Amino acid sequence: MAVTLSPPALAEKASRLVAASERQSFDPFTDVDWSVPLDDSAYYLPPEFLPLYGTAAWAAMTEEERIAYSRHEVAALCSAGIWFENILMHLVLRHLYDLPADDGSHRYLLIETADECRHSAMFGELIRQAGTPAYQVSPLLRRLGNFLKATSRGPESYIAILAAEELLDISNRATMKDDRVHPTSRRIAQIHVLEEARHMSFARTYIAEVWPTLSRFQRLVAMIRAPFIVRGVADALVNPAVYETLGIEDGYRQARKNPVHRERVIRDLGRLTGLLEGIGVINRFTRPVWRALGLVAAVPAPGPS
Ligand SMILES: [Fe+2]
Ligand SMILES: [Fe+2]
Repeated sequence: MAVTLSPPALAEKASRLVAASERQSFDPFTDVDWSVPLDDSAYYLPPEFLPLYGTAAWAAMTEEERIAYSRHEVAALCSAGIWFENILMHLVLRHLYDLPADDGSHRYLLIETADECRHSAMFGELIRQAGTPAYQVSPLLRRLGNFLKATSRGPESYIAILAAEELLDISNRATMKDDRVHPTSRRIAQIHVLEEARHMSFARTYIAEVWPTLSRFQRLVAMIRAPFIVRGVADALVNPAVYETLGIEDGYRQARKNPVHRERVIRDLGRLTGLLEGIGVINRFTRPVWRALGLVAAVPAPGPS
């Protein structure tokens, strides 16, 4: 496959993002105060973002149990974050493998990879201090992640990247502003939001600029695979081991079926699915698949403003 050099608009975006990275980047081991104990004095995520919120299992919990449950969910979410970021780094490195050093995106993509290394180190530290199991994603998702790393390229890779980044970004933005949430969790969310804004900006520009340059066959393959990739990313938000560890009977099924959680996934993917509608990845033929997989609402959502 021929190397796709960065179009001028993407190179311009990348050079602005390099400058933004120089102005603001974080070291998770000096910019987070790890001396604050991860006790159960506060929630670790806004309750509305917990997969069991609003279910019968949630109604049966005391406030203390809900807070402890949120600590386990934030550890599972950080573990899913490490899984996502490992895949993202593979995909970005494969992109970099093809690029000459004088391509306009070369330096930026190295910075993005370094950002993700630091984020995964930060998530790992939270897990080690949270007093919970490490909650790796399920063996099935790990196998699917390996398949994606091995086979994805081009705009399809950046659709996968955006799916993970957009989903986490919405909950991180809510977490960092919520004074019901533990300060360590809020700080981690804030650092992630500030650095991920650059990644999402690059991914959106890449998709918009490179998608129209693909052959019809390349587009068809990406259009068929994209909804299943995005579903796999969304599935990592609910880890069955959390409910087993806490002895919450029927918790996994209730979380998966939870209408609050299902609507949240559709809502939080809205910017991505709006972009994909705009470039035709989601169209009248593929939309039923996205709908059947619980990724878009029944009625077409308005595009991003
Ligand atoms: Fe990240
Ligand atoms: Fe990222």
